[in-house]
Amino acid sequence: MPLYQNLEALHRERKKYLGNQCGLVPTMGALHQGHFALIEQAQVENESVWVTIFVNPTQFNNTSDLHAYPVCLKKDVEAIHKINPAINIFAPSVQDMYPKHVHATSYAFNGLDTVMEGADRPDHFNGVITIVSKLFEAVHPHSAYFGEKDFQQLSIIKNWVKTANIPITIVPCPIVREANGLAMSSRNELLTKTTRAEAGFIYKTLEHCASNYMKKAAIYAHIANVFAQHPTFTLHYALCVDETSLQEVTEVNPQENQRLFVATSVEGVRLIDNIALK
Ligand code: PAJ
Repeated sequence: MPLYQNLEALHRERKKYLGNQCGLVPTMGALHQGHFALIEQAQVENESVWVTIFVNPTQFNNTSDLHAYPVCLKKDVEAIHKINPAINIFAPSVQDMYPKHVHATSYAFNGLDTVMEGADRPDHFNGVITIVSKLFEAVHPHSAYFGEKDFQQLSIIKNWVKTANIPITIVPCPIVREANGLAMSSRNELLTKTTRAEAGFIYKTLEHCASNYMKKAAIYAHIANVFAQHPTFTLHYALCVDETSLQEVTEVNPQENQRLFVATSVEGVRLIDNIALK
């Protein structure tokens, strides 16, 4: 079983195959079909695949969220093994990834971090790039796979790789959903069964907006109205944004690349989702 739990073991193994086309799938574990879709795509496009499992403390905004995050390494390793026993897994300790201080480096993100998740979760994206940078350095992949579920994260990673001239191809992967439309997330495990079923309304609302409204005001009004019918869900934002700048659009325009984003909390769990406005 190719499971490496510290940097030294990883370096020893990775050195043997540096010439191989290598794809990296960074995750925080509690794997689901959304993660497996990234792994499958990485398998198709590479000679070797590395999946990393690390709950990165520097991207959490509070310790209760960090401690509540589901951890099930044994189950994750078995699930990856079932897909393909040759997939390499790197699951380091906090001490390994942050030997001195557990803290994030500060980056400049050209305004991509001033909205949505970046505005609501100070330093979150500094934490994400700090760990992604460490994982890139450790694994040396040719390409890395990220989901559009975390579209803002994907945009920030693409922008950082371009600005810093990092020779790694960032591959975006579509959102995988549960049967009721809820975007798959490790955090869905923390919801009660009833709330998880109810949460299907989030994607249904996004779909309804994308197919029925041409005006930003009408979209926002519809979303406010629907959330009022689901009072246990707190709406943090609903925003129509330009896909490149991530800034709010002045008006919806199907000729341009625009997306509708929402973030909500229920039972102490933050859920995010997005849809293309085409
Ligand atoms: P995590 O939430 O575990 O997600 C790992 C990867 O899986 C991310 O690229 C995320 O966008 C993707 N993913 C999650 N749910 C998905 C879904 N329903 N459909 C498609 N892709 C999905 O994102 C992180 O971890 C961390 O921030 C990380 C990048 C690993 C850095 O710590």
